[in-house]
Amino acid sequence: MSKAPQRQKGDPETTGHSWDGIEEFNNPLPRWWLWTFYVCIIWAIGYSIAYPAWPGIKSATSGVLGWSTRANVAAEIEAANEANAAINAQLVSAELTEISGDPELNGYAVSAGAAVFKTWCAQCHGSGAAGAKGYPNLLDDDWLWGGDIEAIHTTITHGVRNEDDEDARYSQMPAFGRDELLAEDEIDQVVNFVMSLSGEPQDASLVEDGKVVFEDNCASCHMEDGTGDRTQGAPNLTDAIWLYGGDYATVKETVTNARFGVMPNWNARLTEAEIRSAALYVHQLGGGE
Ligand code: HEC
Ligand code: HEC
Repeated sequence: MSKAPQRQKGDPETTGHSWDGIEEFNNPLPRWWLWTFYVCIIWAIGYSIAYPAWPGIKSATSGVLGWSTRANVAAEIEAANEANAAINAQLVSAELTEISGDPELNGYAVSAGAAVFKTWCAQCHGSGAAGAKGYPNLLDDDWLWGGDIEAIHTTITHGVRNEDDEDARYSQMPAFGRDELLAEDEIDQVVNFVMSLSGEPQDASLVEDGKVVFEDNCASCHMEDGTGDRTQGAPNLTDAIWLYGGDYATVKETVTNARFGVMPNWNARLTEAEIRSAALYVHQLGGGE
């Protein structure tokens, strides 16, 4: 046991605690510190009365000033909508094909459309609109349903193969394998023919027979020469641009089980001004006609 140091006369009181003989002087807190502390307490009480502070089960105390981030955002949105009301009205009433000739209106629509696209379209079409398997690239000039402003507007408004809008663009390729419309060897033939339209078939000896199968079963939608039909959303099979893929296995899968790409109709979720903005944005991406 070590010995506690001798206390000197005039030393302050100790707190009475002793750790291995070390004791603590009971000095008063510095004045400046103490007052700062009291001020902080008063500030905190005032703050929690004035502003939302104490969490409850469903919501926090609202505070007498009625301040709320949610209300602030709502007010800002309201203000933005009001500021844009006039130009949105102009956008909706203008002739669709003439908007791109009006630099001010077009500029507004394209930047608003970019924002709409990032929020509502990028999940499927990619943030740069380059698409993904099953989701068309919107940057190129290869269109399933049409690339002029009116066709794009219609596609976005009503969507594709959805159940919610009876004006949705609709068509369905038969599942030639699953529904036994073609035998396995006929499918192999036609797949090789399809591959030969834009590149190298896997087995060139089957291409000739495949052409016959194609003419009998596929040409009604994809056209005799394979260039597709926009009224049915049947892709051009000659351009080496693939929605689902052009390798043997993928084309065979397409012909065997068919595909059924669905896009929601946007008229239920977006305003006409937003739809027009998105259409103009997509149209000016590079492939617009
Ligand atoms: C849930 C996924 C999804 C979302 C979200 C989506 N799309 Fe689509 N979109 C598709 C699919 C799938 C197709 C192709 C349908 C087909 O196979 O014909 C398509 C087709 C299109 C086409 C037609 C392309 C062509 O070649 O004719 C346009 C234009 C288009 N989308 C624009 C948009 C815009 C603008 C938005 C946002 C407002 C959007 N899409 C949101 C899935 C989506
Ligand atoms: C009733 C019309 C119709 C018929 C008949 C039809 N197709 Fe299709 N085909 C389509 C449509 C529509 C799509 C696009 C499907 C989608 O996007 O969901 C498509 C897509 C395809 C694709 C995918 C292209 C890509 O870019 O990935 C291939 C390959 C194809 N068809 C080949 C064939 C072959 C081979 C036949 C005949 C054995 C055939 N189709 C018959 C309508 C048809």
